[in-house]
Amino acid sequence: MPDIFKKFNSIKELHNGIVEHAGSDPLAVRIEGIQSGGQAKIRGRDCVLMGSNNYLGLTFDQDAINASCQAVQECGTGTTGSRAANGSYAGHQDLEKMVADFYGLDKAILFTTGYQANVGFLSAIAGKGDYILIDSESHASIYDGCKLSNATTLHFRHNDPKDLEKRLARLPVEACKLVVTEGIFSMRGDRAPLKEIAAAAKKYDAYLMVDEAHSLGVLGKNGRGLAEEEGVEDQVDFILGTFSKSVGTIGGFCVSNHAELDIVRLAARSYLFTASLPSSIVASAGVTLSRIKNEPELRAKLWENTTLLYDGLKNMGFDIGSDKNPVIGVFMPSLQEGLRAWNQLLENNVYVNLALPPATPEGVCLLRCSVSAGHTTEQIETVLNAFSIIYDELYIEDKVSAAE
Ligand SMILES: Cc1ncc(COP(=O)(O)O)c(C=O)c1O
Repeated sequence: MPDIFKKFNSIKELHNGIVEHAGSDPLAVRIEGIQSGGQAKIRGRDCVLMGSNNYLGLTFDQDAINASCQAVQECGTGTTGSRAANGSYAGHQDLEKMVADFYGLDKAILFTTGYQANVGFLSAIAGKGDYILIDSESHASIYDGCKLSNATTLHFRHNDPKDLEKRLARLPVEACKLVVTEGIFSMRGDRAPLKEIAAAAKKYDAYLMVDEAHSLGVLGKNGRGLAEEEGVEDQVDFILGTFSKSVGTIGGFCVSNHAELDIVRLAARSYLFTASLPSSIVASAGVTLSRIKNEPELRAKLWENTTLLYDGLKNMGFDIGSDKNPVIGVFMPSLQEGLRAWNQLLENNVYVNLALPPATPEGVCLLRCSVSAGHTTEQIETVLNAFSIIYDELYIEDKVSAAE
């Protein structure tokens, strides 16, 4: 029989190499216990979770937990089907209204995850003859949504509005165009030059979508993200978001003033053919979203912690890029050293995300930190101490042996 698994050989080889260099399997980390405030038990020890996307530390919010428990009692543990087939619960519709109101826009549509929001929305909105222009470092869900659409997808250079403009200028005037970028990029943690991107989109009559997955709750006076921070909300056609980061639960959404967003419900297969969010999730998302709106002090604490970690790493000499954001991608000199450093951090009770291709561009290895308002100053200091140990091992040893 021809071996259907043969195609996995190269993946297996790559994975074995990763495990060998790291000294453990980064894809098999077991969280043995989780505590509020960015701490977890891993390998039997208390570790600081510096790779959780829990930007506002809301996963243990007591009001959200209470609302979630009450919803389970009232509505059960799941909806067991899609909204198109099984109907919408009142909570789904109320949360859509709440999300739309949060952004001051007319329409919102919920998806079961942020991944499904991108895949469903992009594949539904763009069709044959249309063009989608995406940043080359876009999240996988954006790439996958484009693949599922019948549109032509073009990649512009990361955060390069001039390159975007050049590509837009070559397209037929009469064709529909959609430009897609992210607010804060998920791996490097840099921000899109949104004013310039919006200007380029406007100049060439293109629609603009911004995925604010990592900027919701983080940027903007009201926590609405980069478009709010940059004062260009009125130039953005569609905002994509997720509840899986600052909102502290799971779920995705798209918001817009375009009335046609309602039709996406009839066209997006990841909305039509998957079970809707359970009521417990809907209930907790509603509670934490209102905390994001009403408690700017959460954001202030997040930024205080971000400054502490970002400045500490920068002063140590790490290559962390120039944008200060709660996502801090620490560039490693090589894949092998990155793997070793990741394990070394864990041995020093600090968990960060190991970011490798295809999540990063070819050849790029990042130790990705995501700061939380829930971290204490002591926890950030623990992280900085652990990084100073790996700095010595990564750079000082190399320099000493090079000099010898
Ligand atoms: C930019 C971006 N968009 C979408 C997603 C998908 O979100 P979710 O985890 O809700 O599926 C992510 C998740 O990491 C992301 O970083």
